[in-house]
Amino acid sequence: MLSHLALTCVSLLVTFAAVRWFIRDSYKLDGFSQKHVFITGCDSGFGNLLAKQLDRKGFKVIAACLSEKGAADLAAAASPRLKTLLLNVTDSAGIRSAVDFVSREVGERGLWGLVNNAGRAIPIGPTEWMQLEDFIKVLDVNLVGLIDVTLQFLPLLKKAQGRVVNVASILGRLSLIGGGYCPSKYGVESFSDSLRKTMHCFGLKVSIIEPGFFKTTITSPDLIGDDLRRLWTRLPQDIRDSYGATYVEDYVRMQTFSLGMLCSSDIAQVTRCMEHALTARYPRKRYAAGWDAKLIWIPLSYLPSFVADFVVSMLLPVPEVGRKP
Ligand SMILES: NC(=O)c1ccc[n+]([C@@H]2O[C@H](COP(=O)([O-])OP(=O)(O)OC[C@H]3O[C@@H](n4cnc5c(N)ncnc54)[C@H](OP(=O)(O)O)[C@@H]3O)[C@@H](O)[C@H]2O)c1
Ligand SMILES: *[C@@H]1O[C@H](CO)[C@@H](O)[C@H](O)[C@H]1NC(C)=O
Repeated sequence: MLSHLALTCVSLLVTFAAVRWFIRDSYKLDGFSQKHVFITGCDSGFGNLLAKQLDRKGFKVIAACLSEKGAADLAAAASPRLKTLLLNVTDSAGIRSAVDFVSREVGERGLWGLVNNAGRAIPIGPTEWMQLEDFIKVLDVNLVGLIDVTLQFLPLLKKAQGRVVNVASILGRLSLIGGGYCPSKYGVESFSDSLRKTMHCFGLKVSIIEPGFFKTTITSPDLIGDDLRRLWTRLPQDIRDSYGATYVEDYVRMQTFSLGMLCSSDIAQVTRCMEHALTARYPRKRYAAGWDAKLIWIPLSYLPSFVADFVVSMLLPVPEVGRKP
């Protein structure tokens, strides 16, 4: 009797908390036509779609592209409100020029949103196949570049009591692949957590986007496969022998198959999370973007390491020396 009553109370409390969370999560701000958002890596993928999506919503979008062609194509596909500029996030002086440009655009209002989206993945593959510069190439863009952009834009963001939206990944919680990508995304998670805590009292809000697998240039099996073959041919013969002659092609085949199975084409699932982080009264600290992230990868990241290790072992081939006779 008593336990029945307790159970009813607990269910009511949980229901009440969930309803309150959903209502709070749905509160939106307005006045977007007076708000500026700066996005990096807008040539393709999430950044490109987000720039167009926010432009349609009336935001003043400043889209940073890596290539002239990327910038010209985006400008042609958007309203005249949208401004583009060229930025390689590994170029500190380039970031400084971008800050000058944005500063003139926003005037006294400051910058409402910074979306750190630019990123690269290759080289990825077995850790033993990597050299130091392979790690540095990726860390320089995904982590050091992101930190540099954030620090240089911070004064403009502080002025607007704005939002920072950092694109990490489920690979910032689970190291499913070797190379600089996972360490860079773990770094983005950590940097964003620190930034959120220190800037909270100034009214600045920081959100982390953790997408699962989506079909974009970064997950192209052909580009990843070609690069894996490059790493393989660079290896000394004795290391190649320890993996077995067919290993690299087995690896490419399994990876192509896994990416084909896992990657969703609906990249708007990711840009909707980014938009929520920029338009909600109460943006979330973390967004798991995509059903695979919500149902598989994020839950997996809370389980003991041996479970994640087992999943990885299912996705990749076993080297010759590790095979059972
Ligand atoms: N797709 C996924 O499954 C997935 C999952 C989790 C997280 N992410 C993250 O989402 C973000 C966007 O990636 P995406 O999937 O949309 O792939 P994408 O289409 O390749 O977009 C990445 C963008 O960053 C640009 N970029 C690369 N190096 C740069 C640099 N040094 N400076 C400035 N821009 C640079 C790329 O330009 P170019 O095209 O000219 O190289 C491209 O426009 C990345 O941070 C990625 O790590 C993606
Ligand atoms: C970005 O800048 C780095 C040096 O800072 C350079 O090595 C790289 O090639 C540049 N990327 C592009 C695509 O221009």
